[in-house]
Amino acid sequence: MLAPGQAARVEEVGYVEAPIRAFAIATVFWGIVGFLAGVVIALQLAFPLLNLDLEWTTFGRLRPVHTSAVIFAFGGNALIGTSLFIVQRTCRARLFGGNDAGWFLFWGYQFFIVMAALGYVLGITQSKEYAEPEWYVDLWLTVVWVAYLIVYGGTIVRREEPHIYVANWFYLAFIITIAMLHIGNNISVPVSLGSSASYSAPAGVQGAMIQWWYGHNAVGFFLTAGFLGMMYYFIPKQADRPIYSYRLSIVHFWTLIFLYIWAGPHHLHYTALPDWAQTLGMVFSVILWMPSWGGMINGLMTLSGAWDKLRTNAALRFSVVAVGFYAMATFEGPLMSIKAVNGLSHYTDWTIGHVHSGALGWNGFITFGALYYLFPVLWKKKALWSEKLVAWHFWLATLGIVLYISAMWVSGIMQGLMWRAYDELGFLQYSFVETVEAMHPYYVIRTLGGVLYLTGALLMAFNLWKTVTVGEAIEPEHATVPAHAVAAE
Ligand code: HEM
Ligand code: HEM
Repeated sequence: MLAPGQAARVEEVGYVEAPIRAFAIATVFWGIVGFLAGVVIALQLAFPLLNLDLEWTTFGRLRPVHTSAVIFAFGGNALIGTSLFIVQRTCRARLFGGNDAGWFLFWGYQFFIVMAALGYVLGITQSKEYAEPEWYVDLWLTVVWVAYLIVYGGTIVRREEPHIYVANWFYLAFIITIAMLHIGNNISVPVSLGSSASYSAPAGVQGAMIQWWYGHNAVGFFLTAGFLGMMYYFIPKQADRPIYSYRLSIVHFWTLIFLYIWAGPHHLHYTALPDWAQTLGMVFSVILWMPSWGGMINGLMTLSGAWDKLRTNAALRFSVVAVGFYAMATFEGPLMSIKAVNGLSHYTDWTIGHVHSGALGWNGFITFGALYYLFPVLWKKKALWSEKLVAWHFWLATLGIVLYISAMWVSGIMQGLMWRAYDELGFLQYSFVETVEAMHPYYVIRTLGGVLYLTGALLMAFNLWKTVTVGEAIEPEHATVPAHAVAAE
């Protein structure tokens, strides 16, 4: 571990920062777009009139706009930006490819997002969840992603630090596995020369299996491994403590990577998929609970001796509560993968509640914590413009999540129970439309939760903008890189 005094100066190592600043701004921008799209589709589910009877604005087209905006645009920009920031500092090396490579990644990735979103609104989709873009968008993303791997890997290769800090292991697993999943799940043939539509190479149950191998590992490697990379860097930084156990982080890494890849079939319980494959998926999902909680314990215990910082550092509060939500989602997931439980939860809002406890609580909060850390560092400011606004953001967002996920749990379990209720003559007790009507109040509560979450994000955008424009600058002689790799060993 380097002493703070040994920290290299920004100018000496010459870290690439301008494209990372752009990634940080894009994260905030796409976050707001994605949350807004979430609120719109939540309103549409509560009040179907808001589909506006126009093909471009129907729920079916706006839903993938929401999911892609939050996962790939908000999450993706956060992951790429933080990974490029962290890899340089923990390796004490300038980004491989320099500024030009950084800008190529930035603009290349934004172009992918815009092409994908335009396609959804115009109805161009290959109808695979989280892999909706058609072949021409997929090809472009492959180019950008391979460039990302080269830039990231190249920086690690030229490192001056003998150790590869654990955050980089998680980011690297995320980059390599996403490349593999993206290519594997998108093998397709255009319908004709010049057509934007395509046929998927694997069909039927094989197609479904590959899609959910992709879908589940998008959760495992995009929404989990990459964000764990963030956890392993920003929590030790914000708490100013080394990671609780380096050994546990290694065990955490290898078990998580090995187990996640097998769990996809839990998305296909009670389908045409062979029964043994469903059971395999279930067993691996249940075992997955252990490494997930091992990582969670490592993140939380890093605060031992520094818990008091939670009272004064609102940004740290985001990161720590994120780990709490990670614990919740990774307890609930294995539970839902058990076939008997999935028989009740599948197709219901319970799944949506599970998704958003992970998405809003874990992915959202750990990103907000990282952004609050990064903005002052990247723009060389002494502090955030307002700590009070961070606290407002925290409480609004927390309340929003509680409203969202508790409404979905209640509505989901109610929905599942109503679908399977029989009367004494053996007829279904409720018609489908009665179950839909019963959901209405919960959909309104969910929308309210979403509005609170969005409002919090708007406060964050304002606070960060003020930090950049009127925040007090650090005097040049103090503009050192914060002690990197505080976390290691
Ligand atoms: C203001 C915040 C948000 C609101 C109001 C919101 C709302 C919604 C709604 C209404 C749906 C459709 C549910 C359905 O089809 O029944 C949905 C789906 C989804 N959202 Fe969000 N969302 C928000 C934030 C997020 C974030 C931050 C993420 C990820 C980082 C996310 C990821 C997803 C995913 C993955 C789905 C698809 C779930 C599935 O198919 O099971 N959402 N969201
Ligand atoms: C040990 C970890 C986890 C396990 C075993 C797990 C398991 C599951 C299960 C069984 C389902 C329902 C499948 C279905 O009935 O269709 C599901 C859905 C989902 N989970 Fe998890 N989960 C875990 C962690 C997470 C985390 C941390 C997130 C982060 C956001 C997440 C995001 C999702 C999403 C987006 C879906 C919806 C997929 C879809 O149908 O569109 N999960 N998960």
